[in-house]
Amino acid sequence: MLVQLNTLKETALQELETITDVDQLPEWHRKYLSKKGELTQVLKQLGRLSAEERPAAGQAANKVKQALTGRFQEHQDRLKEAALDQQLAKDDIDISLPGRPCHLGHLHVCTQMLRQIYQVFGEMGFQIYESPEVESDENNFQLLNIPAYHPARDMWDTFWVNDQVVLRTHTSPGQIRVMKENFPNPIRVILPGKVYRYEQVTQRSEHQFYQVEGLAVGLNIRMTDLIGVMQEATKKMFGSDRKNRIRGSYFPFTEPSIEIDMDCIFCGGSGCRMCKHTGWLEIGGAGMVHPVVLNNGGYDPDVWSGFAFGIGVERPLLLKHGIPDIRYFYGNDLNFLQQF
Ligand code: DAH
Repeated sequence: MLVQLNTLKETALQELETITDVDQLPEWHRKYLSKKGELTQVLKQLGRLSAEERPAAGQAANKVKQALTGRFQEHQDRLKEAALDQQLAKDDIDISLPGRPCHLGHLHVCTQMLRQIYQVFGEMGFQIYESPEVESDENNFQLLNIPAYHPARDMWDTFWVNDQVVLRTHTSPGQIRVMKENFPNPIRVILPGKVYRYEQVTQRSEHQFYQVEGLAVGLNIRMTDLIGVMQEATKKMFGSDRKNRIRGSYFPFTEPSIEIDMDCIFCGGSGCRMCKHTGWLEIGGAGMVHPVVLNNGGYDPDVWSGFAFGIGVERPLLLKHGIPDIRYFYGNDLNFLQQF
């Protein structure tokens, strides 16, 4: 039996050495070391030995088992390590390779313009106030002195949500909200935001765009305050030698109403294609808050007075950068947007 054990050990170990693939190891283990393996078969014969022979044979069998188990473990570790090395060599990860650059976005050109506007008016003490894009007919029109069926409604092509609710056609309804919330305190705010018009989208007009509304209400506010504020803003935004021009106009919510221009930033006023040879570019509408509107906001027009203005955001950008088509702003074309 000792001879048998020895031969078993030799063959098993020789066979183990020839295995080069981890997947073949379980087969070897089954063959020699499992319950039905060859070693167990030999051990079964222990019973047939005499009492004197048995201990020595038992010891020898145990040694063989230990030797086989030990070598099996070693061989398995070695093969696994080799397999891992091979895998690593194949994947060949170069951890010193610089990462792929990720593309950083930036603020939309309109947002940049808005922030510049906040900065300029912020320096003059205007707070920013936000008001909703979905508005009541009452705030968008009626309380701004534009009753139902009034012809002035034709100034704004309107998206109706239902017969009492609209997508605001301008930022002016924010004036009503600010006044109602702030009475009896003086007011100095700007109201930036998107406005909506039921309009054909063309090179020159979008159905949604930004406006910035301004409102100041106080005890002695006059037209000259309005003009001074607009001149300061124009100069800060477009250069200190800009000049303004005031024209009489009409808006239902201001009296008197004016329109404010600045001398053309391209030709300095001598006339060019950009200013359609007038020498002037339009900035926005403005005026003294109509007594009816002050009253609707809760401010007694015999005591309080105020000015308001509404300026566009996209239009000046079109001019400033010579952009030929307003639709570029919301076309999501990165080639366009990345330029700014
Ligand atoms: N809300 C006007 C519009 O969208 C612009 C405007 C004009 C606003 C005069 C004002 C203003 O506050 O005083 O056409």
